Amino acid sequence: MHRDMREHYENRLKTRWMGRTAGFYEVVDSTNILAKEEAKRGAASGTLIVADRQTAGRGRRGREWKSPGGTNLYFTLMLKPDFAPDKASMLTLVMAHAVAEAVSRSVPVRPGIKWPNDIVMDGKKVCGILTEMELKESRIASVVIGVGINVHRQAFPTELKDRAASLEQFGTLEISRGALLADIMEVFEADYEAFCREESLAALRTSYESFLVNKDREVCVLDPRGEFRGIARGITDAGELLVELADKSTVSVYAGEVSVRGIYGYV
Ligand code: BTN
Repeated sequence: MHRDMREHYENRLKTRWMGRTAGFYEVVDSTNILAKEEAKRGAASGTLIVADRQTAGRGRRGREWKSPGGTNLYFTLMLKPDFAPDKASMLTLVMAHAVAEAVSRSVPVRPGIKWPNDIVMDGKKVCGILTEMELKESRIASVVIGVGINVHRQAFPTELKDRAASLEQFGTLEISRGALLADIMEVFEADYEAFCREESLAALRTSYESFLVNKDREVCVLDPRGEFRGIARGITDAGELLVELADKSTVSVYAGEVSVRGIYGYV
């Protein structure tokens, strides 16, 4: 299983440097933890850590990310960018775009992005992303972007059943985890280089918005200073969500501060 994944990955990989150094593991605690350790040991930017199973997979907001073996993709890409730390959170959107684009090439149903970075299909989450940054003297030492994608068909635990889905539910095809990962690296390499040139999402914005499930739909913004509703219209070059209010004015909301729900549920 595991050897297959590496083989499929290496046979398909077309990048110049992204993910060219990759460690494939049968089991780890969390690929994000391992990637951070590798960064400290001097690993090069673009190093990829992949695991078949995680014993301490972590999600956003301190949640657990269930990571059984043989079914899903769990990987972390480590980068050492030159830009300022306040730009790093945008990399989560860059990765969400790369995953959506790569998935759209191999699954017959078009995936959506729920701002800022969940990938959803038919209203259910198929992928989550957790980005973490390490600083050294107020510069970025490393950024790790951890991605979990539900790939093969599986029975989800009761608490996830209504909110989670796997890619293979959306077509008859069998998906190769290794090949999909290579496709994601290929898209991400181009996206990341564009992002670094402009230090913004300007070049990716239109394509990102073409996947945005919230676009032109009513959203409920869970702002700690008070919830409000509006129509999501797109994103800014800095990755903020543009929300149009009832009086037609537009506010931009920042993912670090708020989360967004559809008014009828998760999307
Ligand atoms: C979320 O809560 O939506 C983010 C989930 C991120 C899960 C991935 S799986 C690979 C990497 N290692 C981890 O421990 N977490 C991320």
